Amino acid sequence: MSESLSSPFMSSSHSAPGVTTPRVAIAGGGVIGLAIGWQLAQAGCAVEIFDAGTPGRGASHAAAGMLAACAEAEPGEETLLDLNRESQRLWPAFADALEAASGLDVGYKETGTLVVALTADDAGKLRHQHAFQKKLDLPVEWLNAAEARRREPHLADRISGALWCPQDHQADNRAVTTALLAACAKAGVRVHADAPVARVVTHAGKARGVEVMGELHEADVVVLAAGAWSRSVDITPARPLPVRPIKGQMLALQMDPAAPLLRHVVWGPGIYLVPRADGRLILGATVEEKGFDETLTAGGQLALLTHAWRAVPTIEELPILEQWVGFRPGSRDDAPILGPSEVDGLIYATGHHRNGILLLPVTTKAIVDLILSGESHPLAAAFGAERFQPRAAAE
Ligand code: FAD
Ligand code: GLY
Repeated sequence: MSESLSSPFMSSSHSAPGVTTPRVAIAGGGVIGLAIGWQLAQAGCAVEIFDAGTPGRGASHAAAGMLAACAEAEPGEETLLDLNRESQRLWPAFADALEAASGLDVGYKETGTLVVALTADDAGKLRHQHAFQKKLDLPVEWLNAAEARRREPHLADRISGALWCPQDHQADNRAVTTALLAACAKAGVRVHADAPVARVVTHAGKARGVEVMGELHEADVVVLAAGAWSRSVDITPARPLPVRPIKGQMLALQMDPAAPLLRHVVWGPGIYLVPRADGRLILGATVEEKGFDETLTAGGQLALLTHAWRAVPTIEELPILEQWVGFRPGSRDDAPILGPSEVDGLIYATGHHRNGILLLPVTTKAIVDLILSGESHPLAAAFGAERFQPRAAAE
């Protein structure tokens, strides 16, 4: 191990004496594993990332890229909201650093989000959500129908009101993944495709590396970042993590990029619509407990199109570009699992569920800081695996 260099997402204390640069093996090459690998390599660590398939083609490819801390805020998730909001705050600097490192645009757009109500009933629910958001001091504003349509003229005539979330922006998750792969390559990370990690190899209660296709790859620190597949890696003697796949069907329509139907992210009942700079309009998503079932169903696609058409009727003329399925890494309480495990040197960065793109900067910072200087991020402390321990033993 040698002294570390500095990096935009690390605390300044990393350049202090005593900070080391361990060899790191990362299981999983989605945005989470790639961003951690990139930052660790920039700090001087030797990093290898192992992916079971093609890196960047898991949930990180399937997602919509919404950074929706306010629109998706839910009662009972106030601690997670603090983490989400911190990550939202970190996004501009993260995007700048990634674009500088990779030379690629990551499609970070500060356009805000509109949540629209179509019926009086929807409006009642939305007012209730607004009251909760205001109680938490979130930057969210109530708009009447005319004000909402001034922002988005293609919204249905019959909308009954809307919430405006001016700080809920978006990044193009596929562009982010491509940029992370480029940044990793430039930083010297060795990324292995078709290289499933079978198990974390331990000796005397400490991680020694990972086993990939019968071969030991030695490392001082192992990061488990295999998303919805995190349970496929044997982490004995640590307890299995309560992570499962939560299926989401999506589809993309093609708008005219010179005259897009929408300019903001729009949520309607049962649907979100995310306009990209190149004219793609992403519609999502179903939430299904079907394991790793990759089937696109008529019912799922019909529901997306129907809900989207009710909110924005003019979509009916748009060509369908693509339809796909992705798997959110859902934990038992829908919050991420971040930080140390029972095995010295084995670190978790998984279970990001619906918000892995939003949580990318804060996860990266928390895990990189932990590995380089042992510092726990104060907002991530509540998301350790130990919160599941009493019940995980029964699994
Ligand atoms: P992944 O990107 O899934 O990467 C995990 C990787 O691990 C994969 O490449 C896989 O091949 C690899 N792997 C599997 N098994 C092994 C093994 N044994 N060894 C090594 N590698 C292995 N989040 C947001 O913030 N905003 C959104 O708008 C949003 N929309 C979404 C819409 C949908 C339909 C879905 C499915 C998800 C959405 N998410 C969104 C959630 C977000 O996509 C995820 O939380 C995030 O991408 C998780 O990243 P990851 O790197 O942990 O997982
Ligand atoms: N966060 C959007 C989704 O998971 O579908």
